[in-house]
Formats: sequence, structure tokens, C-alpha cells
Amino acid sequence: MNVLLAGGAGYIGSHTCVELIQAGHSVIVADNYSNSCPEAIRRVEEITGTSIKTYDADVCAAQAVEQIFSENEIDAVIHFAGLKAVGESCEKPLLYYRNNIDSTLTLLEAMHRHHVTRFIFSSSATVYGTPEEVPLVETMPTGSPTNPYGWTKLMMEQILTDTQRANPQMSIVILRYFNPIGAHKSGRIGEDPNGIPNNLMPYITQVAAGRLPELGVFGDDYPTPDGTGVRDYIHVVDLAKGHVKAIDYSADHTGAEIINLGTGTGYSVLEIVKTFERVNHLTIPYVIKPRRAGDIAECYANAEKAAKVLGWKAELGLDEMCFDSWNWQSNNVNGYK
Ligand code: NAD
Ligand code: WQD
Repeated sequence: MNVLLAGGAGYIGSHTCVELIQAGHSVIVADNYSNSCPEAIRRVEEITGTSIKTYDADVCAAQAVEQIFSENEIDAVIHFAGLKAVGESCEKPLLYYRNNIDSTLTLLEAMHRHHVTRFIFSSSATVYGTPEEVPLVETMPTGSPTNPYGWTKLMMEQILTDTQRANPQMSIVILRYFNPIGAHKSGRIGEDPNGIPNNLMPYITQVAAGRLPELGVFGDDYPTPDGTGVRDYIHVVDLAKGHVKAIDYSADHTGAEIINLGTGTGYSVLEIVKTFERVNHLTIPYVIKPRRAGDIAECYANAEKAAKVLGWKAELGLDEMCFDSWNWQSNNVNGYK
């Protein structure tokens, strides 16, 4: 199967390249490297011992996307190519709406012209908004995302659902990711955010690496067992394997399916810090800070639909997530640079 990965050089995309190749698929990567670099793909080639066809392309650009579709026999598309920084999306909403929605429309139009019917989409648990109860089930109503980034995901889910309804031959799988962390076992690919990280795990690993002095824990007065926020952290390799299952599923199903990719277990910020310290024999200095605007107390998945529909279940636990995150960061103190 030839799979086009839009945004395939990024954190989740690069790990998915590895898993797809190891499952016997061929991948084509299109990325404009706005939040990644070609070195990530070079390392995927090193891990898998294959050569990957790549396009330095903005997938919002119709001509560039047309070229990719005309030069390759594409069977399915996985769309990772989005901007994802929540804070930045509040400062630059138009950039986020333009990039995230345009890229989706451009890819769908090219697929339509070239009769490609299988599309896997990177959505996010953020579409649930502020949940009334956890765990989150796909049938629960989506909420009001607290930022433009989240709105782009919700709007794209609608665009995809409408597109599938009008094109019943299509198979669209909308994957709602929870909180991906960890890295490939080799320590050669991992998460490499630009500037100061927004997310918890890269912040912790950069404190551990001495790049940042201490972690700020955003709030210890939530209605959770230790007062800090609870999330469903999922190993990025498990997440990547979920995409392989979605690709397989899309071969013989039509429809638009929305599926959570999470473990079903929530951990607090302090549990993450303690586990990271224990498995890596390190101390992470931290201070309690006020709550971060837009944060919710608890967010974790009901992961039953993924098991039932895709035959997928997360296998790696929190110890491995913390170990592999540090293995990547400690071997690449400055990321890919
Ligand atoms: P990432 O930034 O590492 O990867 C996204 C990739 O897309 C980058 O390589 C970037 O250069 C590329 N890109 C962005 N716009 C592009 C464009 N117009 N044309 C071509 N390439 C473009 O992010 P990630 O963590 O790998 O996330 C992948 C997808 O999953 C994103 O859509 C993100 O919103 C979604 N997601 C991520 C998380 C998370 O916590 N990492 C959670 C839920 C959903
Ligand atoms: C996790 C927990 C923080 C940083 C975000 C997006 C979501 C999705 C995943 C893309 C929270 C706490 C964090 C820090 C802290 N991305 N924290 N100190 O907010 O659950 O989700 O990334 O779709 O859309 O919103 O992830 O890693 O930022 O935070 O205490 O320096 O860690 O308050 O409880 P979040 P996160």
C-alpha cells in the first residue's frame, strides 16, 4: 500500500512512518518543515533501512499537492500537517484556520480528482471541550474548544463527515489523540518542539537535560487525587501503530468513523514527575504555579471503540513512556539540531 503522510516529518508522523514501513507499506512524505526538519526523515530511513520519497511541500498549495498525486499511485492519505500550539493559535487565529483547514481541503480535493478514497485524520481530545464526565466516549457531544486550534479540529471533523456523506465510497477515520509522549526505542527520533515547550513531557525532559531550570506545575487545587491535572498519556509508538490499524481498516470499510486513541488511564502531573524521576534516576525540580488558562481538571479516554473497531490497544505503560522520552532527549540534548 502506498500511503501519503502529509506532515510526515513531525513527531507523530515520523513514528508512523517507521511503523507503516515495518508493517510492509510504502510511504511518501510531504512536509514544509514549518515545525520539523528533513533530518527526522533521514533517521527514519536509518531505522528502517529504506529510502523514503519526500516532498518539501506546503500541502495547502494545490499545485504542489497535484504534483504529488500525479507522480505517485497513492492508496491512502494520513493528514498530520497541522499547526498545534494552543497559545499561538490564540495570538494568530488566522494562521491556524488558514493552515489547518486549507491543508485539509486541498488534500481532499486532490484525492477527489485522483479517486483516492481513504483518509486518516489527526484529531484531538481537545474537541470534547470541558468534559462533564470522564472517561470520554466518542458518542459524547463535542464541546466548545477553548482556543482556535481546537476549533480547527472540530471544524475539520465536520468537513470530513460531510465529505464522506456526499462520497459514500470514501473511508475516513478521524483519530482523536489524547496526550502522546515517549519516543522510538532507538532514541533516534522524538519530539523536538521549537522554543520553550508548551507540553508537559518535553518541558520535563528539557529540565532534566539542564536546558530549563525547573518545571512549573500549573495548579494543585483541581478536584483530582493530588490536586494536579489528570491526562491520558499515550506512547507515541502505540499511537503510530493505531494508524497502521486505521490504514488496514480503511481498506475494506467505508464510512466516517471517529475513534479515540488513548490508553483509558489518567495520570496526574505529579505522577508523571515521580515516574520520570524513578525510572530515569533523576530529580526534577518543580514549583507549583497558578492554573493555566483553558486547562481542564481531567481528560482521559474510553478506549473501547479502538479495540472493537480497529483491534488496537495501547501496550506500553507509563514507565516506558518516561524512559523513552528521556532516552531520546538525553541522546539528543538539542533535538535534531
Ligand atoms: P508536529 O508539528 O511535530 O507535526 C506536524 C507536521 O506537519 C510538521 O512536520 C510540520 O512541519 C508539518 N506541517 C504543518 N503545516 C504544514 C503544511 N501546510 N504543509 C506541509 N507540512 C505542514 O506535530 P505532531 O505532534 O506530530 O502532530 C501531528 C498532528 O496531530 C497535528 O495535526 C496535531 O494537531 C495533531 N495532534 C497532536 C497532538 C500532540 O499532542 N502532539 C495531540 C492531538 C492531535
Ligand atoms: C498536560 C498537563 C497541564 C506543562 C495539549 C493540547 C491538546 C493536545 C495535547 C494537540 C496539564 C500540565 C503542562 C507545564 C504543567 N494537543 N502542565 N506544566 O494541555 O492536556 O493538551 O496537548 O491536539 O489539544 O491542549 O497537554 O502537555 O500541555 O499538559 O503543569 O509546563 O500538564 O496543566 O495538566 P494538554 P500538556
